[in-house]
Amino acid sequence: MTATMEISITKVQNSRLSEVDFDNLPFGKVFTDHMLEADYENGEWKNVQIKPYGSFSITPALAVLHYGQAIFEGIKAYKDADGNAYIFRPYDNFKRFNISAQRMQMPEVPEEIFMDGMVKLISLDKDWIPSKEDNALYIRPFMISTDELIGVRPSDKYKFLIILSPSGPYYNAPMRLLVEEEYVRAAEGGAGYAKAAGNYGAAMFPTAQAKKGGYDQVLWTDATAHKYVQECGTMNVFFIIGNTAITPDLSQGTILAGVTRKSVITLLQDMGLNVEERPLSIDEIVAAYRDGQLNEIFGTGTAATISYVQELRYNDIEMKFAPDSWKTAAKIKERLTDIRVARSEDVYNWMLSVK
Ligand code: COI
Repeated sequence: MTATMEISITKVQNSRLSEVDFDNLPFGKVFTDHMLEADYENGEWKNVQIKPYGSFSITPALAVLHYGQAIFEGIKAYKDADGNAYIFRPYDNFKRFNISAQRMQMPEVPEEIFMDGMVKLISLDKDWIPSKEDNALYIRPFMISTDELIGVRPSDKYKFLIILSPSGPYYNAPMRLLVEEEYVRAAEGGAGYAKAAGNYGAAMFPTAQAKKGGYDQVLWTDATAHKYVQECGTMNVFFIIGNTAITPDLSQGTILAGVTRKSVITLLQDMGLNVEERPLSIDEIVAAYRDGQLNEIFGTGTAATISYVQELRYNDIEMKFAPDSWKTAAKIKERLTDIRVARSEDVYNWMLSVK
């Protein structure tokens, strides 16, 4: 930990908490009373403040609006049965955030702002953490470039913010995925491993096309041959083939290094499955399905948590998975939830307590 940086706190006069329907929370539409904001100027971070959630003014020439120097993270906080608050593996997101910052030529955010600021903010808005199963407090740290400039160059000024959203599940039903063979999310040497806003913006058109066909998400393939699967727009993917869990490896720099992905690998290994992180071709997936060896597919992500897959479509090949096949995913989901809400011991030391 570096030297402490002062974080000023201005509390709301009247909380909006009582207006929230915690029995019917959507994902990412309700925001807590407070947010964190910090400015980067003249090579240093300053004005770190926790203040009432609200809008801020921008100019039309704000750099981020034009060239998309913007990165973000997604983290979740949970409550146990006694009302104690915990954040799931936030340090991993902190590290990934600064990896994204480097790729996008943005300044690193120090631990004392990202981590200490997040803990202080959650401590203040702790009562907003939902306790309903499959709900959580979604934490969204993000950074934008704030120079007033139309020239194409990295900004000198940036804003870092953290907002909090009590949220229900991102997906409410098992997913239908379409293998994408025309459009590309990430190529080697690109920014696929960074949680850069533009990666998500560029995925919207292909995803909208897939939605028109009744699919929830595309399953991206490599940029060169469209042969190897990568990830979905909102989650990493796992394939259970025989007794082995296979997930695409990170070596090409085209896939997001998911914190849930990493946690699921640990849980699968502890459940006795072989886990392979390696290139996985769509041909191998189809062959395994035809041999009756492809038992299950599921997605992993902070927002998506563990998402069951009911269908994977590749050209005219439909691979279908009935609810009784989602066995591994169900076990992993239960194991992860139990750790997150302290129903079972946090043997991996994943949960950060917030007082
Ligand atoms: C997350 O899982 O936290 C993400 O950032 C994905 C986003 C599409 C909601």
